[in-house]
Amino acid sequence: MNWNDSQQASDKEIQLELMEMGKFPRHIAIIMDGNGRWAVEKNMPRIAGHKEGIESVRDIVKACSQLGVQYLTLYAFSIENWKRPMSEVSGLMKLLEHYLRQEIDELNANGVRLRAIGKINSLPKVVQKLLKDSEVRTKDNQGLNLTLALSYSGRWDLVRAVQMIGLDIRRGKISPEDINEDLFASYLQTHDLPDADLMVRTSGEMRLSNFLLWEMAYGEIYISNKYWPEFRRDDIYAALSNYLQRERRYGKTSLQIANEKQNVSEESYLQRVFNAFKKS
Ligand code: IPE
Ligand code: IPE
Ligand code: MG
Repeated sequence: MNWNDSQQASDKEIQLELMEMGKFPRHIAIIMDGNGRWAVEKNMPRIAGHKEGIESVRDIVKACSQLGVQYLTLYAFSIENWKRPMSEVSGLMKLLEHYLRQEIDELNANGVRLRAIGKINSLPKVVQKLLKDSEVRTKDNQGLNLTLALSYSGRWDLVRAVQMIGLDIRRGKISPEDINEDLFASYLQTHDLPDADLMVRTSGEMRLSNFLLWEMAYGEIYISNKYWPEFRRDDIYAALSNYLQRERRYGKTSLQIANEKQNVSEESYLQRVFNAFKKS
C-alpha cells in the first residue's frame, strides 16, 4: 500500500499546517512506554499491550514518512528489559519477529530504510536474520530512516565505543590526541544518524532510561501522558507542534538566536534574487 495515496484529505491538511510552522526535527526518537500498564488497566495480559503497541508503531512510522521526517528511532527493547520475566521477553521477541515478517514489504514499498542498533547478537537468531535481510533489502531506499533500538542501552554503546577506540590506539590506527567529539561519535552505533532533535516519551514517565545518552545532549524532550498503545498520529502532531514553538539556544542567548535567524532569512532572500538574476 502506498502511504501517500491512501491518506485522508483532512490528515494531509493538518500535516501541511505543521510543515508551514517551521523547521522539522531531523531526527525524532521515541521511548515507547506504557504497554504493560495499558493492558493491566484493561484486565488484559501485558503482552496484549505490546501487541496493540505495534499498531501505534505502524501509524507513527506512516505519519512520519508522510511528513518527510528523515530519521525516526524507536526504543523497542533495552538491555535492562532482559531482566523481565522470561515469558514476557519471549513474547516480545515473537512479536518482533512477526512485525518484521509482516511489515517489511510495505516499509520497502514506501521507501523506508530500516536498521537496528543495539546488542543485536543477543537477539534470537531468527530475529537477527530478519533484521539483516531487511537492512540489506532497504539499504538504498531514500525515504524515512527507521532505526529500531533493540537490546540497546546508551551506556553499553558508550563503553563499547571506548573499548574500540582503545583497540584502534593499540593497533596504531589513531592516537589519543585524535580523539574529539566527532571521532568519538563515529565509534557509536548511531554513527550514521544525526543527533536526536526531539525525544518523545509516552506514559508520563520523565526519564531517559538509558536511551541515546550521547545523542540527546541538546535534544528537546516531550512527554506524553498517553500510554504507547493509545499514542497515534494526532499525538505525534501535538509533539511536533510543541517542538516547533520552542527556541533551541544551544547555550546562546535568545537575542543571538534571533539574529542568526534573521541572517539566514536575509541570505536566502539574497540567494533567491541572485538565482533569478542568473536565470534572466
Ligand atoms: C514499553 O512498555 C515496552 C517495552 C519496554 C518493551 P512497558 O512494557 O515498559 O510497559 P509499562 O511501562 O510496564 O507499562
Ligand atoms: C524503556 O522503558 C525501554 C523501552 C521503551 C524499550 P522501560 O519501561 O524499560 O523503562 P523504565 O524501567 O520504566 O525506566
Ligand atoms: Mg515501561
